[in-house]
Amino acid sequence: MKIILLGAPGSGKGTMAQRLTSELDIPQISTGDIFRKNLKEETPLGLQIKDILEGGGLVPDEITIAIVKNRLAEEDCSNGYILDGFPRSIAQAEALDAFQKIDCAINLDVDNQTIVSRLSGRRFCPDCSGTFHISSLQDPTVCPVCGGKLIVRKDDREETVLERLRVYETTTLPLIEYYKAQGKLVTVNGTGGIDVVYRRILDVLHK
Ligand code: AP5
Ligand code: MG
Repeated sequence: MKIILLGAPGSGKGTMAQRLTSELDIPQISTGDIFRKNLKEETPLGLQIKDILEGGGLVPDEITIAIVKNRLAEEDCSNGYILDGFPRSIAQAEALDAFQKIDCAINLDVDNQTIVSRLSGRRFCPDCSGTFHISSLQDPTVCPVCGGKLIVRKDDREETVLERLRVYETTTLPLIEYYKAQGKLVTVNGTGGIDVVYRRILDVLHK
């Protein structure tokens, strides 16, 4: 299956994609993780996008589209994939339509208050890209999956979260209508515990 996970920052795209990827045995393609890896490794791309990521803006479409196009052409994507954080603009969605035919776009619907509370407690593992919430961690500094050192993402600072929500509302939200018009949109209530939301997604995929 070729699945897009849509939703605001903090709606749970990464959390759900990580579960789906092991259950469905198809890769998670997270543009945010790809960009953060480049930032960590200080590649030319990483240096170019550092300020954009840390300020909560969007990386230019032409850069993002080229990266995703190359990634989806890799062998492990031949049976499907979960797109997490792409597309994020109408231009990206149109470009994707030109080179891939996706099956469904799942929109995780979460209110802004829940988003702010989730992002203020998020911890991220730069080694394995694992994402956690302090409420479920025994030790908020150690990754329970790989033992790496957990960090707070720089773009989870309050002012940057507000900017990311603004960018989401102006540039990404129109994708809901875009996929609705294609008959591919499914909206899932993204509030409730992780297991509850995940079960809702599986129910949708089984239909
Ligand atoms: P990206 O990494 O994609 O960030 P985002 O869209 O802002 O989304 P997040 O990763 O913040 O949230 P999420 O929905 O994955 O939620 P999560 O599962 O972590 O992008 C980062 C930056 O890269 C962008 O700002 C931009 O600069 C650039 N970029 C990326 N893609 C781009 C593109 N296509 N074009 C241009 N630029 C791009 O969950 C959040 C927290 O909530 C966690 O702590 C988690 O444990 C917790 N949680 C999740 N689900 C639940 C639940 N059901 N109940 C309780 N807690 C939950
Ligand atoms: Mg994410």
